[in-house]
Amino acid sequence: MLFFTLLLEVTWILAADGGQHWTYKGPHGQDHWPASYPDCGGSDQSPINIQMDSVTFDPELPALEPHGYDQPGTEPLDLHNNGHTVQLSLPPTLYLDGLPRRYVAAQLHLHWGQKGSPGGSEHQINSEATAAELHIVHYDADSYDSLSEAAQKPQGLAVLGILIEVGETKNLAYEHILSHLHEIRHKDQKTSVPPFNVRELLPPELGQFFRYNGSLTTPPCYQSVLWTVFNRRAQISMGQLENLQETLFSTEEEPSELLVLNYRDPQPLNHRAVFASFIEVGSIYTTGEMLGLGVGILVGCLCLLLAVFLIARKIRKKRLRNRKSVVFTSGRATTEA
Ligand SMILES: *[C@@H]1O[C@H](CO)[C@@H](O)[C@H](O)[C@H]1NC(C)=O
Repeated sequence: MLFFTLLLEVTWILAADGGQHWTYKGPHGQDHWPASYPDCGGSDQSPINIQMDSVTFDPELPALEPHGYDQPGTEPLDLHNNGHTVQLSLPPTLYLDGLPRRYVAAQLHLHWGQKGSPGGSEHQINSEATAAELHIVHYDADSYDSLSEAAQKPQGLAVLGILIEVGETKNLAYEHILSHLHEIRHKDQKTSVPPFNVRELLPPELGQFFRYNGSLTTPPCYQSVLWTVFNRRAQISMGQLENLQETLFSTEEEPSELLVLNYRDPQPLNHRAVFASFIEVGSIYTTGEMLGLGVGILVGCLCLLLAVFLIARKIRKKRLRNRKSVVFTSGRATTEA
């Protein structure tokens, strides 16, 4: 009995420790997550590197339609530095159509790199990471009462992944979040932001996306996420990216540690399929192959043209000869040939 109590105690302590402390690098870094959070060592983990030449085109995939994103109510939204990311709470009036069930929004958050180094997104397309990534987390509210309940069930969650790259201009939608970061520099600080058009955080064009079964990208890594990663990217300015990379701390107080490089490495795809809502010509032929194909078609056309010309000339000569003989016999002069 004493042994049993002790075992319980130890399990509880381990669980509590696991529940509190994980990082991306170092002794509690991502390689060590499975020790405290077994699901992190599972076979259906996220993020993944999406290889265009091995995705499955699925013409049946319905368009993904965000609803209520344009005007998320009138109440201010909570913005929270949780030590791992900056997270914005979202009301359940935001929901998604185009998935097997209706998923309502709960929160969104970001992943990024650090100043001066490339990378920062979690998902990659053809082994290419972008500067940052936005995740909008939804749960199946028809089947489950809360996000935390749904988070442990297969396809309980639906997350939208938006790759973010650096563009020329300031993205005003992202500024609704980024302009408040200085108010929540330390872990566990919160502020509230006025509601804004959340749809504008997404790329303008939502038609091209990837769909696969995966997991939370942070402990406890539950394998409960139906992922949608958009092919088109959102753009923020270099100044905005640097604000994201240089403002937040992962610690409550001194010593302050910058909250940077909060992205997980791509996980093995294993047996899983990745579906795409679109076909890209470039996924079938590389640029070199396309060039070869183009030159081939051109040369082919020229050969055909030459052949037609030669044959036409031959026919014309033959006709001319026939006409000449006609001229000799009929005595009628003709030069029309
Ligand atoms: C996800 O897994 C479920 C259950 O195995 C399966 O029915 C569904 O087709 C999978 N979806 C995708 C996008 O792979």
